[in-house]
Amino acid sequence: MEQSEAKLLESIRLHLMKSRGLDISGYSSTFVLRSVRKRLGRSGAKDLPDYARLLLSSEEETTQFVAALSINVTDFFRDGGAFEALSEKVIRPVVRSKVGSGGIVRIWSAGCATGQELYTLTMCLDQELRRAGNNENIMGTVTGGDLSKTALAFARKGVYSKEQVKNVPLHMLMEYFVENEGSYEVGETLRRRVRFVNENLLDEPRSRFFDVVVCRNVLIYFSRPMHDQVVMNLHRSLRPNGYLMLGRTESLVGSPRLHYELLDAENRIFRKKE
Ligand SMILES: C[S@@+](CC[C@H](N)C(=O)[O-])C[C@H]1O[C@@H](n2cnc3c(N)ncnc32)[C@H](O)[C@@H]1O
Repeated sequence: MEQSEAKLLESIRLHLMKSRGLDISGYSSTFVLRSVRKRLGRSGAKDLPDYARLLLSSEEETTQFVAALSINVTDFFRDGGAFEALSEKVIRPVVRSKVGSGGIVRIWSAGCATGQELYTLTMCLDQELRRAGNNENIMGTVTGGDLSKTALAFARKGVYSKEQVKNVPLHMLMEYFVENEGSYEVGETLRRRVRFVNENLLDEPRSRFFDVVVCRNVLIYFSRPMHDQVVMNLHRSLRPNGYLMLGRTESLVGSPRLHYELLDAENRIFRKKE
């Protein structure tokens, strides 16, 4: 890589961190440069320095660039051990805390896209409820919300290809899905726990007192003021000492960060203060 390209990448890295709270230092240079070239061709910029100037000065181009990084994808059990950590450090203690008193464990998948994250969380919750002895006093629900009605319709249908379910551990695939001519349909155990809501995270939260909010790979779409607004909306939707999980490349920046304490840096898990 040439020195000029390295300098360009560093300025883009700093820009995305500052403007979107998006940390791309884990992405390969080749991958980021490929996205730069993709956008360069479409943006009308004449060369790399010209494109860098445009990107650093335009909100619109920043959004387009983030989209070009191809991070509008989703997956079951995305990011290896992230959901294992969430189960152990968050869902398990939350379930345990309700064993004596009864009650409902409430989880929100904010920006659930086509449902893979929502059903992953529902499987994790079901496993933890079972570990706690399936105490009939405890119920558990997972709400999946998204701005996109098309994505939500797909999530509600809950039918996935063999390729799409490849990260679901085999024992869970057999237990929670019904195979039908090569497709995998979400079964009743998961369906009875999930709810869907078409929502905009920039609006006042419609529901409150969630024990856990998982908002992964969504904040990257927002500019700083919007980012802060969404993080504070998520804060309002959590019960005191509730938990927030972000995506692996995301961070809490600015004043909203002060309202959370860090629980797990690698897996971006925070706890609401007070
Ligand atoms: C990259 S996907 C993330 C899916 C999933 N959370 C994951 O990490 O695999 C981002 C999702 O955020 C949704 N989204 C973007 N802006 C939103 C907003 N203002 N309110 C609610 N959802 C939004 C998009 O429709 C998309 O489905």
